[in-house]
Amino acid sequence: LNLILSMAQLALTSCNLFDSSADRVTVHFINRDGERLTATAKEGESLLEVVVNQNLSIDGFGACEGTLACSTCHLIFEEDVFQKLDAITDEELDMLDLAYGLTDTSRLGCQVCVKKAMDGLTVQVPAEVADMRRELEVGKQSK
Ligand code: FES
Repeated sequence: LNLILSMAQLALTSCNLFDSSADRVTVHFINRDGERLTATAKEGESLLEVVVNQNLSIDGFGACEGTLACSTCHLIFEEDVFQKLDAITDEELDMLDLAYGLTDTSRLGCQVCVKKAMDGLTVQVPAEVADMRRELEVGKQSK
């Protein structure tokens, strides 16, 4: 477990190359109800950090605070943007596999770093959310 946690922390910090003078990037989130939420992100922030720092109202998003343990930060990208994202890690892939409504262009928002080239990006919040921590708890209780 410790190994998993330290890998998650490594993954967490991999985005943090930004400083106060970092470029601003506009990101749009289409929420579950179809509402468009627009945020001004800093280059180097993860999309989870954007949601948290800008107080975007996305129900249940980022429940594990980016430790790759929940999949509630599942986001669906446009094909052309998805192709340009950094490579996915095995740890992200494993957690993503457990997300509801998985698509070919799905990623976990806590693992995707904002880049200048993403300015104007629109991502879709899937209709359903799976919190693997909760599912595991329910599983334990029903045994
Ligand atoms: S916030 Fe939990 S996996 Fe991303």
